[in-house]
Amino acid sequence: MPNADWNAVQALPTKTLTELFAEDSGRLAKFSVDVAGLHFDWSKTHLTEDAVTAFASLAQAQDLAGKREALFGGEIVNVTEGRAVEHTAERGEGAVESVAKARALHARMRSLIDAIEGEALGPIRHVLHVGIGGSALGPDLLVDALGRDADRYDVAIVANVDGVALEDAFRRFDPDATLLVIASKTFTTTETMLNAQSVLQWMTEHGVADPYGKVVALTAAPDKALEWGVDETRILPFGESIGGRYSLWSSIGFPAALALGWDCFEELLEGAAEMDRHFRLTALHENAPALAAFADLYYTQVRHAETRATFAYDQRLKLLPPYLQQLEMESNGKSVTADGSLLGRPSAAITWGGVGTEAQHAVFQLLHQGTHLVPVEFVASIEPGDTLSEDHHRQLLLNAFAQGAALMAGKHNDDGARNYAGDRPSSTILLDDLDARSLGALIAFYEHRVFVNGVLLGINSFDQFGVELGKEMAKAAVEGGQQFDASTDDLIKRAFG
Ligand code: F6P
Repeated sequence: MPNADWNAVQALPTKTLTELFAEDSGRLAKFSVDVAGLHFDWSKTHLTEDAVTAFASLAQAQDLAGKREALFGGEIVNVTEGRAVEHTAERGEGAVESVAKARALHARMRSLIDAIEGEALGPIRHVLHVGIGGSALGPDLLVDALGRDADRYDVAIVANVDGVALEDAFRRFDPDATLLVIASKTFTTTETMLNAQSVLQWMTEHGVADPYGKVVALTAAPDKALEWGVDETRILPFGESIGGRYSLWSSIGFPAALALGWDCFEELLEGAAEMDRHFRLTALHENAPALAAFADLYYTQVRHAETRATFAYDQRLKLLPPYLQQLEMESNGKSVTADGSLLGRPSAAITWGGVGTEAQHAVFQLLHQGTHLVPVEFVASIEPGDTLSEDHHRQLLLNAFAQGAALMAGKHNDDGARNYAGDRPSSTILLDDLDARSLGALIAFYEHRVFVNGVLLGINSFDQFGVELGKEMAKAAVEGGQQFDASTDDLIKRAFG
């Protein structure tokens, strides 16, 4: 880790936001970026030109430009697992062969969608997608954000192994008209495999003649899907180089492409590709993912912020915060650098958030007056998602903007309970409109922001060994006969005798 460059970051002066605005009338323009129908505003963060310069030299010392090219060039970037990282190739930005491969797999996905639409599998109205983590969060976000007016198929994405989640879907769905979609990169995740079995059983119990004939598998392990009983024509593979939390662009996006239509899925990919080109080609001081990461690092490393909160002021984006939790925390929640040495500084902030305006009446007390420093991000769309009187959308947006203003300005009162210290940072992402293209660009922005954070910290953002131990121990517990600690053994005994 190049300490000289971190020292420059650490030594940055800490002026208040009000001071920063007062001393530079060009501040708003300097810390705003417009790209792909998205407006980014970091002027209400403590980023300064000096801070951007310091982070840019840290980026140089960490060879961000070289690592970015390696990412897009299909080189081994996930060093701990010896893999390339090729989600950008899914949207047409990557090594020529990888893009060609992704296009061929997309063509296969599209033909299956056409076949389903043509009722080759019988009349399908319901799509029951089982998958977890990256095999669920992305498609769920897409269908929820963009599917309000889509009446093609009713989609349920079931992740939890808790049978309540499946039974909720069973109550809504007709077994005869249900397509079972099994999404699992490894095709071994125990929760997903059990859920898939239970859906098949439900179909069988309800007299579906050929339940296996209505199964689609989305996986990087096609042999395992074949072995499980899925017909080859309904296995949609994707490459090992597509990480779970980066996989919605691949066949994992199948339920979204089916429910929203192929054109919509292509627009999503194009929006993401536009952000890819921006990230790849734009100087760091105007580069949206880089500036966002610089602000993230300023708060985690210099101001010791432990969390960062995203509030979607758009009901259609209510699944964005949970999506970001996996993307950011599974990618950069690590204590060692890519070469295995101790990180020695804070890794990713804890990502949390919610939906505005609801969150204002639940958690904003702490944001305005609590002792924690929490950089806040507002995400909103200028065009409304509803057709009610314009009062709704007007109130929604103005609430978001007012929160940012209040966090920054504060308001003095001699009575401590009524005092607002202010100087609390926020950033805003304002979409012209929420559609497939802008959502694609938004998600790609977050992916690249994670990448820049990882590179500057020296972390490999693309492995996730942290979840393995828990998985292993859960498996041992399910198999039985394993002794744990006294507390765990007692809990098992209480539950199962
Ligand atoms: O929870 C860990 C994890 O490995 C995630 O990274 C992944 O998205 C999820 O499990 C599901 O894995 P799979 O797609 O292989 O079922």
